[in-house]
Amino acid sequence: MPESFFILSKDYLELATDEIIAISKTYDRFAKAKIISNLIIIQSKTNWNEIAKRASFVKVSGQILRKMSGLFLDEENFGVLKNAKTFVCRIINLSVNQFNILELERSMGDMISKFSHAKVKLEDPDITIYLIFTDKENFFGFSKRAKEQNRPTKIKKYPHELDWKLTRVMINLIGLKEGETVCDPFCGTGTTLLEAESMGIHAIGLDFDEKMCEITKENLKVNGYKSKVFKSDFQELLKISGKFDGIVTDLPYGRASRTSEKPEEILKKFFAILPKRKRIAIMYKKESDRNLKLNGQKKYEIYRHKSLTRSILIK
Ligand SMILES: C[S@@+](CC[C@H](N)C(=O)[O-])C[C@H]1O[C@@H](n2cnc3c(N)ncnc32)[C@H](O)[C@@H]1O
Repeated sequence: MPESFFILSKDYLELATDEIIAISKTYDRFAKAKIISNLIIIQSKTNWNEIAKRASFVKVSGQILRKMSGLFLDEENFGVLKNAKTFVCRIINLSVNQFNILELERSMGDMISKFSHAKVKLEDPDITIYLIFTDKENFFGFSKRAKEQNRPTKIKKYPHELDWKLTRVMINLIGLKEGETVCDPFCGTGTTLLEAESMGIHAIGLDFDEKMCEITKENLKVNGYKSKVFKSDFQELLKISGKFDGIVTDLPYGRASRTSEKPEEILKKFFAILPKRKRIAIMYKKESDRNLKLNGQKKYEIYRHKSLTRSILIK
């Protein structure tokens, strides 16, 4: 079974790790993960790039060719360079040992040039060869030049909008696939709808504020996206629950956004009407659930600044 590697940004490491595992299992439920700090090794039939292109916090990714105890490479390892004109070597050192990384990259490059016809090119090579050092084992892998992902354009913003990475991570954590539908009953500027559509997932947005619905519609239109937006209270969710597979949403915080009631009240009512048998990811201000017993599969805390810590609850 092919193995892929993902080096994650350490900003939200737990979320980032769970996201990679969730995406892998979305496409292959038998996928297996091994976690070595911010390096995740995934054993799955899904190509590394299919996983990486959906993820929010991946810095570097590729396919593993070999695990090594030492640093012994031979000609066989460079079959991957057969059709490449250019390559570069990159060392990722996650071990406690200190290396002169630049020097090692240079000498690896020289050595590999002897085995293959490909030439070293530092910028935009056809293939990047990786040597990843950890305290237990070393990995030899590669990635090919991947097409830049097209990010959705957002022409209208608003102070309460959620950043796209946290929105995307929630969509991924509940394992929605292309062709399925997500609903955001507090859609604001439409971040969830934009992220979902950019991944081939359909979306429905509700917001009780006419202005927010208009902003969302403009943001969708400029991307040629077709998600549906309705000006209505979140409780309308009950009437359309047959039309979506999951919910991803960010509840009002009672600061920049208008709210129909106090955020705690909205959270309580929202929880009471959540449809059964749907995959759900909810974000809210941490203190809002102080007097509520909200259970789910997993909860994350995201510190923003001293007066705002958010919770993400996966149901
Ligand atoms: C935190 S914002 C959502 C931001 C959104 N995730 C984005 O990226 O733009 C919460 C939204 O909930 C909406 N809202 C407040 N009370 C509501 C209600 N009772 N029903 C539906 N929407 C409501 C507000 O208008 C606001 O746009």
